[in-house]
Amino acid sequence: MDKPAKFYITTPIYYVNARPHIGHTYTTVACDAIARRQRMMGMDTFFLTGTDEHGQKIERSATAAGCSPQEFVDQIAAEFRQLWDRMKLSYDDFIRTTEPRHVRGMQALFTRLQERGYIYKGSYSGQYCVFDELYVDAAGPGAPCPECGRPTETVQEENYFFKLSAMEDRLLKLYAEQPDFIRPETRRNEVMAFVRSGLRDLSVSRTTFKWGIPVPGDPKHVIYVWLDALANYITAIGFGSDDPKDKKKFERYWPADVHMIGKEIVRFHCVYWPAFLMAAELPLPKAIVAHGWLLFEESKMSKSRGNIVRSETILDTIGADPLRYFLLREIVFGSDGSFSFDALVERFNADLANGLGNLSSRTLSMITRYFEGEIPHPSKERSADDEAVAALAGQTISDFNAQFEQFQFSRALETAWGLVSAVNKYIVENEPWALAEKPGQDARARLATVLYTAAEALRIVTVLAHPVIPESTARIWQQLGLGNIERFDLRGLKWGQLQLGTKIGKVEPVFPRADKSTIERMQQMEQEGSTTSQNKSQAAESEPAGTGAQAGQRATEAAVTPAVDAKATPVPGVATGNKITIDDFLKVELRVGEVKVAEKVKGADKLLRMEVDIGSEVRQIVAGIAKAYEPEKLVGRKVVIVANLQPRKLRGLESQGMIVAASLGDDGVPVLAGFLEDVPVGAKLK
Ligand code: MSP
Repeated sequence: MDKPAKFYITTPIYYVNARPHIGHTYTTVACDAIARRQRMMGMDTFFLTGTDEHGQKIERSATAAGCSPQEFVDQIAAEFRQLWDRMKLSYDDFIRTTEPRHVRGMQALFTRLQERGYIYKGSYSGQYCVFDELYVDAAGPGAPCPECGRPTETVQEENYFFKLSAMEDRLLKLYAEQPDFIRPETRRNEVMAFVRSGLRDLSVSRTTFKWGIPVPGDPKHVIYVWLDALANYITAIGFGSDDPKDKKKFERYWPADVHMIGKEIVRFHCVYWPAFLMAAELPLPKAIVAHGWLLFEESKMSKSRGNIVRSETILDTIGADPLRYFLLREIVFGSDGSFSFDALVERFNADLANGLGNLSSRTLSMITRYFEGEIPHPSKERSADDEAVAALAGQTISDFNAQFEQFQFSRALETAWGLVSAVNKYIVENEPWALAEKPGQDARARLATVLYTAAEALRIVTVLAHPVIPESTARIWQQLGLGNIERFDLRGLKWGQLQLGTKIGKVEPVFPRADKSTIERMQQMEQEGSTTSQNKSQAAESEPAGTGAQAGQRATEAAVTPAVDAKATPVPGVATGNKITIDDFLKVELRVGEVKVAEKVKGADKLLRMEVDIGSEVRQIVAGIAKAYEPEKLVGRKVVIVANLQPRKLRGLESQGMIVAASLGDDGVPVLAGFLEDVPVGAKLK
């Protein structure tokens, strides 16, 4: 027998300097739904996700959190994995870029690029955006990054360069010959315009930090994080390994069928990645599919904006399936879409509780009541209504499949739910409960036909929706008496397959209605969660709201302290869930200081250099507060400082602590913390 065809799908690997939120969940759920559906179509499917763990951003976050980069990434990566497991995401492998298999594979790729003459040594001097991990065209020291607006840093280094400029024509040819390589069309056009405007060689190593994969034979350099990250798609399936099993795996699954990504990382995937692969003489992925952003309160949900919603909150209240359904139904794939708790609950009640849930419970409970729990035989005589439901079901199957194939999840679900509404209406119009009261064979036969028709339509919607809402559809399938839904071969789905006489299972509601209190609970959980994470990031952070290390960054956007694993019973001194213990808090040494000297830092319009007396000593502190405070007005002022932070260098000046401030608005305008009463210099805060 021939081997089944293969299907390889990937998510981006997520940075571990942020905890997972529903933006990450969105991409992962979309891939999970595709992977599940492919498996049900008989494909040998491989679904990969993972974490991106190297780079200066992560190194700094770890330092800020007071742990080693490895400890730091271990904890956050574990959180991602735990969340994906809780959500029953059916990934086949989880790659971490700090794993030996990745390091080995990445180095093999680097060597391969060198051997083929695509990597050379050169030097670079210019602006670097740490947030984007990218060299950028910015005016000069401190100038904003053209990609994200954050202040850039000036770097001068000797680097390895990749000959990206040599790939221009080949890339343009690729986009022209394979129009489906980049989807949707709008992204393809953007990428083509970018490449047409000219490509410069790309620096693919760094010497300014250590947390990365060493360049083979020249360990002073670490490999550029984006090259490192992109390579995960091949290292995870065995590239670079000598083990014959790995080699076979690579041959089997590469090239990927779909790299699913968010729209902000299109350039890396559609320009750099194919260029690296072409240079390495490796096959190219078949498609790169970019979705839009999940917005919350009108702006992109992201840690830097401090407007994230955690998936756990939704899991703990209405469960994973409602979130999955919402994300794929509500957001038109490819466009941006908004998330709100109200919309989530509204969708849940309308489509799941009242729609599918109602169809399932009324149909199955009437079969239990009137036919002792056995799927009844429909009569040979069919009314126009019965025929219409059967015809609509057939149409639904083919439309749903076509739309899903085109990544139009929202339309596909709308199609399937068109059948749900039609059948609910059919039930109401045919009044099986009234038929059951009528005496005579005809009424009994009609009752059997109506319930058979409803149950068969329910079966079809259930199996179509399974990849999107796996848990609840598996339960409905069980209640229909059909066993394990995952074993169903979707390729053969058609009307009339429901076995007559099938004994249905115990009927239980699958989607209990949510109400206002559910929304309130979710909002409260988020508030509690975000306050704690804000506190954490303040305590752990190296680059807070213009108050310390890196000027211009917002307080909510820097490091997160890795959470201690949540245990069911809180143990004194051990953090649970998103809370920290008093012991954690007490690790942060907050003290009252008095500003003795304050002056602007030359060439950095946001930075002030201060000398702050903290009682036991005078500390030099460099902080990004120059836009909000005149240096003269600060002298003599009492401030709060974090006294036990590791020192950092900024513009060559050592900053020996951080000043605590509130961060206001989108620009993170700093407002220094202070006291109404007089407090002595050096006093501790707790
Ligand atoms: N580490 C890189 C990717 C390397 S892939 C070789 C990265 N990581 S990330 O943690 O920032 O994750 C980015 C991805 O998370 C996005 O491309 C998208 O898939 C998902 N999303 C994160 N926030 C999102 C929204 N607010 N909305 C939709 N998707 C979001 O970039």
